[in-house]
Amino acid sequence: MTYAVERAFAGRRVLVTGGAGFVGGAVVGRLVEQGARVTVLDDLFTGRADTLPTSVQFVEGSVTDAQLVRDLVADASVVFHMAARNIIASTKNPRDDFETNIGGTLNVLLAARDSRPDRVVYTSSASVYGNPRSIPINEDDPLVLLSPYAVSKLGGENYCNAFYESYGLPVAVVRYSNVFGEGQRPDNPYCGVVSKFFAAAMAGDPLQIHGDGEQTRDYTYVDDAVAATLMAAIHPRAEGEVFNIGTGIETSVNALAAGIGAAVGRDVEIRHVDRRDIDNIRRRVVNIEKIRRMLRWSPQVTLERGLADTAAWLAREGERAGLGTPAGGAPG
Ligand SMILES: NC(=O)c1ccc[n+]([C@@H]2O[C@H](COP(=O)([O-])OP(=O)(O)OC[C@H]3O[C@@H](n4cnc5c(N)ncnc54)[C@H](O)[C@@H]3O)[C@@H](O)[C@H]2O)c1
Repeated sequence: MTYAVERAFAGRRVLVTGGAGFVGGAVVGRLVEQGARVTVLDDLFTGRADTLPTSVQFVEGSVTDAQLVRDLVADASVVFHMAARNIIASTKNPRDDFETNIGGTLNVLLAARDSRPDRVVYTSSASVYGNPRSIPINEDDPLVLLSPYAVSKLGGENYCNAFYESYGLPVAVVRYSNVFGEGQRPDNPYCGVVSKFFAAAMAGDPLQIHGDGEQTRDYTYVDDAVAATLMAAIHPRAEGEVFNIGTGIETSVNALAAGIGAAVGRDVEIRHVDRRDIDNIRRRVVNIEKIRRMLRWSPQVTLERGLADTAAWLAREGERAGLGTPAGGAPG
């Protein structure tokens, strides 16, 4: 049976934690288009409230605030729990990461255990696989935790599973792999590699590659990640399950840099610099057969198309900034 995301959210109350962020903001946009009544809880650690649609109820606050979380979850029939300290912030401050990524998740699940929403979707990360023994990586392959971020994202997943098993809470987990695209702002100091390369390429600066550039990732276009996330919220077969979200295509950082040069229509200069602490994963590409088979989701946007669309969006943002409209904004 095929499930239509289009009609599933109309009129429903949906809470999106981290909804002022990159992927959360895109989820919010789709939900609003479909007529959901959306509340966003975000402490604006990296998020930006000014990018949210005006119909959204925005609550500035932290998922570490148990009472606030309880009040907001109580009103929601679906919860997308996407608030998280990112890998760079987490590596700098693992305790802060622990409090948000694990403590915040426990707050959401405890509140949901009592108020019983129809579904809680938790956005995890392919970083839980560490350096895989074989690729593409399956959901039930060994997990190797090479960073405090991987520990905390898996901690959140484990709590989801425990609440599903112990209290029958209807949860679903998606493991994203390097999401990129429209809405990922290069002025966010924690933005991903795609965004950083675009910023450099558009400014005519060299693209800095940490290490030899032969490390690989599976780059997922944001619209595809959003579609999979919404499907995980409505499909009966998603309950209690963990799904990889990606493309199944392995791309080296060198190839990504070349793709970005093509997308902006310039010859880009590449500069190889030292690898960073967070660059300890050599190859990553995920197997997406499980979600294909169970939820009938598959990615629709090629890397080339996604990079071209991102370049077009950044150019529009740049023009708006040039005209001095608020959307352009100063780096925040
Ligand atoms: N973007 C990716 O490639 C990727 C890959 C794997 C997993 N993920 C996961 O997807 C989710 C969204 O990531 P993103 O890329 O949009 O990152 P993001 O940093 O843009 O979004 C995270 C949002 O959470 C908010 N936040 C952080 N701490 C908070 C707190 N204590 N209380 C309330 N809000 C808080 C931030 O302000 C931000 O708006 C996260 O759970 C992340 O772990 C993302």
